[in-house]
Amino acid sequence: MTEQSCRDLRVLVTAGAAGIGREIADAFAGVGARVAVCDIDEAALARFRAELPGHEAFECDVSDEDDVDDLFDDVIDALGGLDVLVNNAGIAGPTGPVESLSPDDWRHTMEINIDGQFLCVRRAVPLLRASGGGSIINMSSAAGRFGFPHRTPYAASKWAVIGFTKSLAIELGPDNIRVNAILPGAVDGPRIRRVIQAKAASTGVAVDELERIYTQQASLGRMVDPQDIARMALFLAGSGGRNISGQALAVDGDTQALI
Ligand SMILES: NC(=O)c1ccc[n+]([C@@H]2O[C@H](COP(=O)([O-])OP(=O)(O)OC[C@H]3O[C@@H](n4cnc5c(N)ncnc54)[C@H](O)[C@@H]3O)[C@@H](O)[C@H]2O)c1
Repeated sequence: MTEQSCRDLRVLVTAGAAGIGREIADAFAGVGARVAVCDIDEAALARFRAELPGHEAFECDVSDEDDVDDLFDDVIDALGGLDVLVNNAGIAGPTGPVESLSPDDWRHTMEINIDGQFLCVRRAVPLLRASGGGSIINMSSAAGRFGFPHRTPYAASKWAVIGFTKSLAIELGPDNIRVNAILPGAVDGPRIRRVIQAKAASTGVAVDELERIYTQQASLGRMVDPQDIARMALFLAGSGGRNISGQALAVDGDTQALI
């Protein structure tokens, strides 16, 4: 039922050429939606175009207002409108005690993780309204519901995503636009390996030990698969999610804390 209801939806996934975003783009394309992605990685965009012909891939840094304006002009030309925005782009930001972090690194994390979502939403809302309603899915993190020592810019940006999501849901509900956040736990893949390496360097805890902790901090004792996140995005965008809005939905194996 969810799959049928996602057929023919016009979907934009930011940072959709690789990682979790690519998994989400593949899931929507697989059920017959019309998908556009943006990314800053030219090689990943080229791979997307080769592997998903018939779908759209644009170069765009979500923290750059002019880039985002060009992206939405391209999406209107290519898809003729929009039903779903997946605000997936986000970076891990710097790792370290707060006094060691540079203001530039702090600002860069905020610019991509929260300013980027704002820049995309302000262009998407008129399109969703013109479609008679739609769905916005903002990527937060388990770091959007727990404190995360040595990752203060990331945690602050992902909590900001929750405030943005809940406020938008109230503002846009009368337009039949649903707004939800997904909060992934540690997702198995190259990024979590980089995150663990950085944490080991910052805390002096061995990589093996950190891998064990990252797995055991979830009650289910395992990391999340990127496809788990994609399935949640499909459900939220489809008929199963038609009365779900303003929610912060954890897909994290019941994570209990972040260290
Ligand atoms: N991987 C995890 O364990 C995890 C856990 C919780 C939340 N998340 C969140 O999920 C989202 C996706 O994470 P991921 O692990 O797939 O990331 P990733 O680091 O694998 O990057 C995915 C893509 O984002 C693109 N990108 C980076 N900066 C961009 C920008 N400014 N504009 C456009 N594209 C950009 C990259 O080029 C890459 O193709 C992020 O918001 C992240 O914070 C990830």
